[in-house]
Amino acid sequence: MKALIVYYSMSGNAGLAAKRIAEQTGADMLPLQVEKDYPDKGFKKYFWGGKSAVMGDKPKLQPYVFEADKYDTVIFGTPVWASTFAPPLRTFIEDNRSALRQKRMAAFVCFKGSGDQKAFAKLKKLLDVESFAAEMTLTEPKEQNKADVDAKIGNFCQALSAAEQA
Ligand SMILES: Cc1cc2nc3c(=O)[nH]c(=O)nc-3n(C[C@H](O)[C@H](O)[C@H](O)COP(=O)(O)O)c2cc1C
Repeated sequence: MKALIVYYSMSGNAGLAAKRIAEQTGADMLPLQVEKDYPDKGFKKYFWGGKSAVMGDKPKLQPYVFEADKYDTVIFGTPVWASTFAPPLRTFIEDNRSALRQKRMAAFVCFKGSGDQKAFAKLKKLLDVESFAAEMTLTEPKEQNKADVDAKIGNFCQALSAAEQA
């Protein structure tokens, strides 16, 4: 049993969660990086990222290696952008559809406070799955107490491990 965490993070929240999940489960990490960075400051940050998410963009990604055969579980991680997942995940998923077909899927999102359920629903639709083996929402984990974040991540990892054993 081996899991891969495929995630995008603009400002480190989803990245922090990915790292902690990897520490708790031994999963590998695959950070997605866009060829042309989104603006990460001020009004432009929300405008361009939000527009890209709403439009269903597929931004070009920097080269990555996805050794699909090594993994039976893929955990997707993303910030919520305009009540959906961040566009780099769309690029990855559409470019690896056949390799992803046989995998167990789980997901986590980081957000400020609205749109997580819509983001999960849209991600499931894109992946063509009814449900995730485990899912988790974290509110700005970089700003939260480490013990609280670790407890939530612990529950997520437990749900995932129970699904792997079922
Ligand atoms: C373009 C953009 C759109 C966002 N839209 C939402 C949103 O709809 N709901 C929400 O709660 N937070 C929203 N946020 C806040 C991020 O989801 C939140 O800060 C998240 O923790 C960032 O994760 P990261 O640090 O991994 O990039 C948005 C942020 C950006 C940049």
